[in-house]
Amino acid sequence: MGSLSTTMIAGVLAVRRGLRKPIGSLALMGQVRGPRGPAGSVPIREAVPLASLDSLIFGGWDILPDDAFLASQKAKVLEKALLDQLRPELEAIRPWRGIFDPRYVRRIKGRHDTTPGGHLASVAKVEKEIGEFREVSQAARIVVLNAASTEAHLQPGDVHGSLKLFEKALAADDERVTPSMIYTYAALRQGAAVVNCTPSHAVDLPALTELALGLRLPLAGRDLKTGQTLLKTILAPGLKARALGVSGWYSTNILGNRDGEVLDDPECLRSKQESKLSVLTSILEPELHPDLYGKLDHLVRIDYYAPRGDEKEAWDSIDIFGWLGYPMQIKINFLCRDSILAAPLALDLALFADLAHRTRLSGPQDWLSLYFKSPMTRGGPPLHDLSVQRQRLEDEIRRIAGWECPEGSPRRGRTSSAAKPGARSLATAR
Ligand SMILES: NC(=O)c1ccc[n+]([C@@H]2O[C@H](COP(=O)([O-])OP(=O)(O)OC[C@H]3O[C@@H](n4cnc5c(N)ncnc54)[C@H](O)[C@@H]3O)[C@@H](O)[C@H]2O)c1
Repeated sequence: MGSLSTTMIAGVLAVRRGLRKPIGSLALMGQVRGPRGPAGSVPIREAVPLASLDSLIFGGWDILPDDAFLASQKAKVLEKALLDQLRPELEAIRPWRGIFDPRYVRRIKGRHDTTPGGHLASVAKVEKEIGEFREVSQAARIVVLNAASTEAHLQPGDVHGSLKLFEKALAADDERVTPSMIYTYAALRQGAAVVNCTPSHAVDLPALTELALGLRLPLAGRDLKTGQTLLKTILAPGLKARALGVSGWYSTNILGNRDGEVLDDPECLRSKQESKLSVLTSILEPELHPDLYGKLDHLVRIDYYAPRGDEKEAWDSIDIFGWLGYPMQIKINFLCRDSILAAPLALDLALFADLAHRTRLSGPQDWLSLYFKSPMTRGGPPLHDLSVQRQRLEDEIRRIAGWECPEGSPRRGRTSSAAKPGARSLATAR
């Protein structure tokens, strides 16, 4: 019941009542090449059988007791007049008690969490709630989206390496099993597709991939690509396409929503920075272009600044160089709205993960890379270039539609190993 999830839910309610348009949702507003190639394009929602907005039913967990109406009011993303029109439907969405571990989220005091009874008891509780939700709502299928606060950084290790070891760790109440992993494990066992909108390691673990593959369920993650990283993955491929050099990319953000408050904890911030940093080296491939990108200095800062609320501001100062090495600069000041950018992505991911489930696509869904800062793959390096990611999504939609991918259409981008960020100070990383 945070900013992202309530903005997505309230938005769906508003769109289905004809109050607003689903801007930013590729699933609802995008087009792909039709069966006869470039000659005619077809709306995605006509190319493949996506679930209709009218058929969606929402439920969720939180460690705070607010219903979706109160939570969206507090998030201050949507205006009061719109929320008032949706009030009865939003008020009816009340969270189940969350699975909380204060070691992983320290800036929020859980007021609506379960009494700790061990990991297996938590799994059983989440499974029971999903089962009851399915029964009461009569939902045919379920997608679980993780939109909870970013957890403190955790380096995946042995216990996440196989399902057997993970289940052993669950039984032993191992502290390396986080709440977000418990939700994913329980959701998969209940036959749900799982999408991780957060930087936490909630699905991108060999143990959970093994479970998803065994149960033939789709997984996608990690961390929605919304503001600054979105622009980075649009601009960097353009500079590279024209063989312009880049010597430095300094990115800073201020945000004042609850997400920002949680990220004020250096350990949670580390999780976010990790997912923001890898994109540039992957797109620019300095090992292939040492003269252009061999000395790239990439810095990302995020600061919590309460007055700004959800209206995040991002600055990029980019040092580029051209003919004979002469330097130039590009400045970007993106005054964005964090949850307004993120909500349509969460909706698309719910619709596409459900489509993947029905089409029996299982494990990591790399055709959904477009939506993530750190996309999961089926083994190869992640795709980061937005146009390559968009092509990959289109190819998969056309494949599901039963139309062949055109000859020579790029299935995968050329990528390199991800950057290895080293912390520089509490709020800074290279
Ligand atoms: N809002 C965006 O634009 C955006 C963009 C990209 C990624 N994300 C990621 O999505 C996540 C949510 O973002 P947000 O802006 O909605 O944050 P938020 O703080 O508004 O919402 C997070 C919610 O999760 C709840 N929560 C925390 N721990 C929980 C647990 N263990 N179980 C159940 N609920 C729990 C909190 O009480 C809160 O209501 C964050 O990880 C954020 O980094 C958000």
